[in-house]
Amino acid sequence: MSDCVMGDTVNGGNDILVRVRGVVKSYVSGNETLHILRGVSFDLHHGETAAVTGRSGSGKSTLLNILGGLDHGDSGTISVADVDLGSLSEGALASYRRNQVGFIFQFHYLLKDFTALENVMLPAYIAGMKKKEALDRARTLLRDLDLEERTGHYPSQLSGGERQRVAVARSLVNDPDLVLADEPTGNLDPDNSAAVAELLYGSAQKWGKTLIVVTHDEKVAARAGTRYTLTAGQLAAASEAP
Ligand SMILES: Nc1ncnc2c1ncn2[C@@H]1O[C@H](COP(=O)(O)OP(=O)(O)OP(=O)(O)O)[C@@H](O)[C@H]1O
Ligand SMILES: [Mg+2]
Repeated sequence: MSDCVMGDTVNGGNDILVRVRGVVKSYVSGNETLHILRGVSFDLHHGETAAVTGRSGSGKSTLLNILGGLDHGDSGTISVADVDLGSLSEGALASYRRNQVGFIFQFHYLLKDFTALENVMLPAYIAGMKKKEALDRARTLLRDLDLEERTGHYPSQLSGGERQRVAVARSLVNDPDLVLADEPTGNLDPDNSAAVAELLYGSAQKWGKTLIVVTHDEKVAARAGTRYTLTAGQLAAASEAP
């Protein structure tokens, strides 16, 4: 992919892309208040890859959703590229989600009536890119993810690992600064999991993306540059975890 396709990250001279301070999130469930995030703070540098592990229900998806602008914390601040997400209007937040963040989930959420190529190009096309440019970009990403022979396949004609690789390509098509992956290999067997993880981390590294991977898979977590665990509502370096 040429430089003009995936542009340089704008960092304004600041090496930190994501700055999270004191994020708190509770849910009220009946008479009970569930304190899920109890003051999460961390920084992510441009190009850093981080893995987050933690028990089921510890709040990993909640944290990713807040970082991705899909949900709000109760208090605390998150800034991405020096912009405070809490200060954004709904429209600006939608633009943030579309242009600055790439999401990959446990389930691929590919559109079944569209080919792999169309699934990858659509977010770029919807964001206003010319069709030809979006198609070119999608083709390049699919080639990077070893899917050159599968561009015309529909999701039902792809293996589980291939679908997740298409989802990785789709997450990158709008050239986001930040890629958020929530259990991206949770549905895959060990071989496919390793292949998808390798391509995910490899793509992030190649294009200088900042990546957070939530995973239960030790091997997938081990590939990250930084390791965190979410325990008792707080994010700690994995080595400091109990
Ligand atoms: N909308 C909601 N209303 C009430 N409780 C919620 C809501 N969303 C999440 N929770 C609760 O918050 C806790 C954290 O959920 P979350 O999905 O973030 O966990 P997780 O760490 O991603 O778990 P898993 O590893 O199973 O995916 C859970 O106990 C969940 O039941
Ligand atoms: Mg989860």
